[in-house]
Amino acid sequence: MKAAINTVYGAPEVVVVGEAPNPEAGEGEVLIRVHATTVNRTDCGMRTPYPLFARAFIGLFKPKLHILGLDFAGVVEAVGAGVTAFKPGDKVFGLSPNVYGAHAEYICVPANSSITHMPNGVDFAEAAPLEGAWYADMSLQAFNIGPGHKILIYGTSGAIGTAALQLAKAYGASVTAVTSSAHLALAEQLGADRVVDYEQEDFTALDEAYDFALDAVGKQSYFRFRKVLKPKGIFASTDLGSWGEVMWLALWSKITGNRRVIFPMPKASKALIETMKARIEAGQYRAVIDRRYRLDDIVEAYRYVETGQKVGNVIIDVAP
Ligand SMILES: NC(=O)c1ccc[n+]([C@@H]2O[C@H](COP(=O)([O-])OP(=O)(O)OC[C@H]3O[C@@H](n4cnc5c(N)ncnc54)[C@H](OP(=O)(O)O)[C@@H]3O)[C@@H](O)[C@H]2O)c1
Repeated sequence: MKAAINTVYGAPEVVVVGEAPNPEAGEGEVLIRVHATTVNRTDCGMRTPYPLFARAFIGLFKPKLHILGLDFAGVVEAVGAGVTAFKPGDKVFGLSPNVYGAHAEYICVPANSSITHMPNGVDFAEAAPLEGAWYADMSLQAFNIGPGHKILIYGTSGAIGTAALQLAKAYGASVTAVTSSAHLALAEQLGADRVVDYEQEDFTALDEAYDFALDAVGKQSYFRFRKVLKPKGIFASTDLGSWGEVMWLALWSKITGNRRVIFPMPKASKALIETMKARIEAGQYRAVIDRRYRLDDIVEAYRYVETGQKVGNVIIDVAP
């Protein structure tokens, strides 16, 4: 099968589109013909690698996984023994955090992992982007977000930010979105109750106090968010810092007890994908799509994602 393969760490050019062995569905597994996937910041982090300490888990000197791609939408090609929930021809979507592998024509995942049938009303490209929604939902759930909560989301134009804004509204929270002038209209469209242009206004001087603050682009210091958090307010960032400094802040704030820092650990589940399916079908969530590339042009996609300027998600169309 055709796949985007990287056997060494490095710049986007280390990724080579070539031939890889076709995976086969073993017992309890589903073989999926991938139609669409994304290049996202997690793929970039795995390929670089970033943060530095990630090497301890993903390969000290060279990557253990040679095909990246964390989210996908496609069609079931075959199922292994014991699989009853899916059959060939079913349209499915999901996340593959244990094996990655979606930057390829075929991927094999356990039937009981984070996949389910595709939502009605969207195509493969609209269903595939799940990475940002996954991190966003994980943070919102770690906040224990619910109706009436006030949340400040800094950076609402990326994959995580566009998802966090929509999902926070779906949880019933009131959202202040901080973004650049160029993306104010998008934040309003996605349901923000208040928008703040970070190019014109300092969000730390806002006249409101928040239950939760999420730095969805990992660009600001926790000490800035402290100024707008309620005493029992909680902060999370999508970036732990090169040396994991957010983890130290989390420990420190546990001791001081107020305006806590948390770092939720990503854990994908079938329940998460089922919830995303329901949210999409209820019109509460739509993946924002920026650019689309063919698998052959994946290096270009990586280069674009690494500008840090994508709006929402970058799709790879794998099937012609
Ligand atoms: N290491 C990992 O494995 C990993 C994985 C996933 C995510 N992350 C972290 O999560 C962050 C978010 O990921 P993502 O995919 O959602 O991001 P993304 O899509 O790459 O974010 C791009 C958006 O961020 C906005 N932005 C850039 N600089 C900004 C700033 N100073 N303030 C506010 N917005 C800014 C840009 O618009 P404007 O410039 O117009 O504002 C752009 O639309 C990443 O930056 C990364 O730190 C890390």
